[in-house]
Amino acid sequence: MSLSVVILAAGKGTRMRSSLPKVLHAIADKPMVSHVIDSARQLGAVNIYVVYGFGGEVLKATLTSENFGDDLTFIEQKEQLGTGHAVDQASPYLKEDEDVLVLYGDVPLTKVSTLESLLKVKPENGMSLLTVHLANPTGYGRIVRTDGEVVGIIEQKDAAPEQLLINEANTGILYAYGGDLKRWLSGLSNDNAQGEYYLTDIIASAHSEGKTIATAHPETEIEVEGANNRVQLAALERAYQARLAEQLMIDGASLRDPARIDIRGSLTIGSEVSIDVNCIFEGSVILGSNVKIGANCILKNCNISDNAEIKPNSIIEEANIGENCSAGPFARIRPGSVMNKDSHVGNFVEMKKTTLGEGSKAGHLTYLGDALIGQNVNVGAGTITCNYDGVNKFKTVIDDNAFIGSNSSLVAPVSIGASATIGAGSVIAKNVEQEDLAVARGKQRNIKNWARPTKN
Ligand code: UD1
Ligand code: CA
Repeated sequence: MSLSVVILAAGKGTRMRSSLPKVLHAIADKPMVSHVIDSARQLGAVNIYVVYGFGGEVLKATLTSENFGDDLTFIEQKEQLGTGHAVDQASPYLKEDEDVLVLYGDVPLTKVSTLESLLKVKPENGMSLLTVHLANPTGYGRIVRTDGEVVGIIEQKDAAPEQLLINEANTGILYAYGGDLKRWLSGLSNDNAQGEYYLTDIIASAHSEGKTIATAHPETEIEVEGANNRVQLAALERAYQARLAEQLMIDGASLRDPARIDIRGSLTIGSEVSIDVNCIFEGSVILGSNVKIGANCILKNCNISDNAEIKPNSIIEEANIGENCSAGPFARIRPGSVMNKDSHVGNFVEMKKTTLGEGSKAGHLTYLGDALIGQNVNVGAGTITCNYDGVNKFKTVIDDNAFIGSNSSLVAPVSIGASATIGAGSVIAKNVEQEDLAVARGKQRNIKNWARPTKN
């Protein structure tokens, strides 16, 4: 039977104190609701219905293109009349003969394995409910059982004193047959303490029809926690990061401090990877085997090959770093850059759209932009490729084995031939042929016994 998922996302999120709808607040740079959409897809949902209330336009505009797909439908809940009313907005879309899972756009950390267990426990003639035993269940709906069987859910505000002692709480996540769900929803009333249409009332309807209500439970409480304010959002972020860090270590990475790493995307690793403190990984980052990442690095959408080392305080974005390379400390490798194997860039070196050939080095204080650099080139300290004339960008080509003296300016477009040498301090605006020496600087004059000026 096919699976549809209804995601409730209509809450305004007043306590976020934000103009952004609550479910768009991010965990690891991704809106909470996108995490939930991802989980629904991993479960194989054919249709995903997002019930929204506020900021529908912002919602659609903020979700990234990868969130969209034929499987996704946005449904407006014009007035927030309760969780039952919210799910009922999706009723016209739900088929009689399909399975329906209800999730929450502000509960992003539920594990797919937990949801799978919920799907698995549902009896043929019944429904299943995700519940959690809490030391302090205040605020939650309580699971009412008779002789061990679930017979209903009572909300905190409607509960009798003895019901408040129940510590099995409703997470809100449930799973039922489409036809049943639609029928139960159509029978809801708002005759309760909050004057709302409670989704939780369908449990009593199911029970009165003689259906069995099975329960499943998350591994940890954090899986079913929502974020109503930024304090809770930050707590979810830390929990999520801890989960990713733990997985990385299980996969063989050594983390100097698992509490000081942030992964905002996907990080793929080879064996014997080590990562020092305060590193941030964004987008899709791939680290080969024996890669070392020093403290305080930021890596975004890049590929670091085997045995490469990124030294502290370096920033690498949309670049490829080859085998045995080293970069940093304080290197900045910008989009479109490639370091071929055994190449090296040192402190305060910036690269942009530049290829550094095998075995080449730029050790200190250098800008390499729009440059194609061959093998075994030595780029001296303070070298600048002058790639921009204020209007257009131009390329610099440096051939194999060239030696660029320190503090040279290479005014593009310009090419330096193989094994050519540039004298230190040169401003090179004309091509240099292979094996030539180019020196382009003012001649030194030494003035004998020169008297320094005196103060007036
Ligand atoms: C709900 C459950 C409660 C459960 C708790 C878990 C009901 C009646 N109660 O209570 O048993 O223990 O969640 O957190 O279901 N929403 C809409 N439209 C609405 C109302 C709510 O989309 O009209 C969304 C909210 O944005 C939120 C979710 O549904 O994401 C839950 O709503 P909320 O008002 O927080 O329910 P609780 O009172 O906490
Ligand atoms: Ca709530």
